[in-house]
Amino acid sequence: MRDERVAVIAIDGPSGSGKGTISQLVARTAGWHFLDSGALYRLVALAASRAGVDVTQTAELARLASNLDVVFEPSKELEAVVVLSGENVSRAIRDEAIGVLASRVAVVPEVREALLDRQRAFAGAPGLVADGRDMGTAVFPAAGLKIFLTASAEERAARRYKQLKDKGESVSLAPLLADILARDERDSQRAVSPLKPAEDALVLDSTEMTIDEVQQRILEEARVRGLL
Ligand code: DC
Repeated sequence: MRDERVAVIAIDGPSGSGKGTISQLVARTAGWHFLDSGALYRLVALAASRAGVDVTQTAELARLASNLDVVFEPSKELEAVVVLSGENVSRAIRDEAIGVLASRVAVVPEVREALLDRQRAFAGAPGLVADGRDMGTAVFPAAGLKIFLTASAEERAARRYKQLKDKGESVSLAPLLADILARDERDSQRAVSPLKPAEDALVLDSTEMTIDEVQQRILEEARVRGLL
């Protein structure tokens, strides 16, 4: 059974808001567990694409989501190594095409339902930092601190552009911005658990903030609420 008293910091927001890095930094600084819920949707997308299952096959998608044999192995890097059925898929799930498929798979209510308990099982003492789109609204509605992290679409596209360039990939800005806008639209317009701030969320716009400033702000809020 999940311990309802375990402290949870829910960090939601759109792609490229910096929440992935920031959530992991907050978890590391606090010594708390970390849930990358987006990775779970990406894993379902990867499993579906490998099994030849398309987004209309909702029962099959839910079955894949329920049966994911996944382990998040801590590593020296900030990001955990993601192992699916014994295979390191850390890179494969970050592929752009899998990201697009993940946002389609995430629209399917049966998939969201199938991933609920798995996400909640990450909550353990002394606390959990949960990163996603619906952590504060649907998965951990009783979270002690809810952050909704945003940044302008242009800034998010520019960050993504830099990230890919640094990896040596040849990219241009315009399609990245178009992709971010399309994904925002899909994530915020879907019927089930759309991307939107929880009523009691603190909305932080990171456009003009450094990663460290955002992290410090979140830690400060957690202290104010007696979570740390
Ligand atoms: O954060 P990310 O880019 O790894 O997420 C991949 C996709 O999964 C993204 O398009 C939105 C979706 N997602 C979701 O619907 N709910 C979550 N809690 C996390 C991610």
